[in-house]
Amino acid sequence: MYICVCNALRERQLHDLIEAGVRCEKEAYARLGCRPQCGTCLPVARALLRGGNKAPALAG
Ligand code: FES
Repeated sequence: MYICVCNALRERQLHDLIEAGVRCEKEAYARLGCRPQCGTCLPVARALLRGGNKAPALAG
């Protein structure tokens, strides 16, 4: 599932970063060679990175 449409980032990529100890969305996006554009994904990315699998449901 895509977490960030603007950067085509998948949930799996964030889980890989979580396993590597990343807990900050800024660091995660930087490690993936991008940065937030519209920001819509940030609440979900933040929840994943800080709470493991406790991401809020995606709207829409
Ligand atoms: S969906 Fe991630 S920056 Fe737009």
